[in-house]
Amino acid sequence: MPPIIQVEQLVKRYRKAEQNAVDGVSFTVAPDSFFALLGPNGAGKTTAISILTTTLTPTSGLVVVAGHDVVQDPDAVRRQLGIIFQKPSLDLNLSAEENVRLHAVLYGLYPWRPFYRLMPAAYRKQVDELAAVVGLTSAEMGQAVRTFSGGMKRKLEIVRSLIHRPRVLFLDEPTTGLDPASRRGLWEYLGQVRAQGGTTVFLTTHYLEEAEDADQICILNHGRVVSMGTAETIKGDLVQNWVRLDAADRDALAAELTALGRAYERDGEGLTVPVEAADVHALLRGIDTPLTRVTTHTPTLEEAYLEILERPA
Ligand SMILES: Nc1ncnc2c1ncn2[C@@H]1O[C@H](COP(=O)(O)OP(=O)(O)OP(=O)(O)O)[C@@H](O)[C@H]1O
Ligand SMILES: [Mg+2]
Repeated sequence: MPPIIQVEQLVKRYRKAEQNAVDGVSFTVAPDSFFALLGPNGAGKTTAISILTTTLTPTSGLVVVAGHDVVQDPDAVRRQLGIIFQKPSLDLNLSAEENVRLHAVLYGLYPWRPFYRLMPAAYRKQVDELAAVVGLTSAEMGQAVRTFSGGMKRKLEIVRSLIHRPRVLFLDEPTTGLDPASRRGLWEYLGQVRAQGGTTVFLTTHYLEEAEDADQICILNHGRVVSMGTAETIKGDLVQNWVRLDAADRDALAAELTALGRAYERDGEGLTVPVEAADVHALLRGIDTPLTRVTTHTPTLEEAYLEILERPA
């Protein structure tokens, strides 16, 4: 199957900027997959997502989304996507539900009716379902968005972006400002959407655990791709597994490790030995000194991420 998103040598330089915000980025995204774009503040994530969603024009490079070039045919691209922006873009004077209704009507999903109760039953069912997912009550859906807290606005944006079944759902830090229960609710719902098939999820986030399950992770720094792969390959390339050992006779343990040809670091609480997971058993079998403690450590994506960003460019 051809990729649902194709990005080649994408460059964006803002007017009067000294450097490219996106500086020659290339990647492809498989249909129905989960793609996570990571990177520190200012890395170029929002810039890239804005180009992919046609709200910003590239300086150079090629971007094709769902078979359409974002520059040549932005309207065709827009019809295929849902977006949750980093900055809320709601009409504060309308009620929460009216914001959703307007969006649904603009996408040609439903005819316009001046009151919620006059809207088609399918629409009302969908709104109620989505509001429940993120934890907005029907009373809140009737309130003016002006009265909403930051987290409530975020939830409303999520409801709005999911009202039409997009082929690609772009989420720019969707869980920022959400409480833990709402975050979990959104993740469960996104899982359901993906399980039904037909939707690709393209996410940026600063919460690395949200990217652990991604089919592909792309890490940007200063507008460039610094690492790409699954969480496993990214971790495997970088962070060492290690085992922490301790013994009543620490000197004997240290001498034994040296005799076994093992590198280690020693501190006040024991010895740390870098070792591949598959090799832990052999290491422990080779030690005769009675051990008082054994702790194994598997790297997290966050450790790998921080290590990648510390590498010299
Ligand atoms: N409208 C703009 N005009 C000029 N420069 C901009 C504009 N928007 C962003 N930039 C610059 O482009 C670079 C990338 O910004 P961008 O918003 O894409 O980063 P980001 O990865 O989304 O960061 P964050 O994690 O903080 O959201 C930054 O150096 C930023 O200052
Ligand atoms: Mg951003």
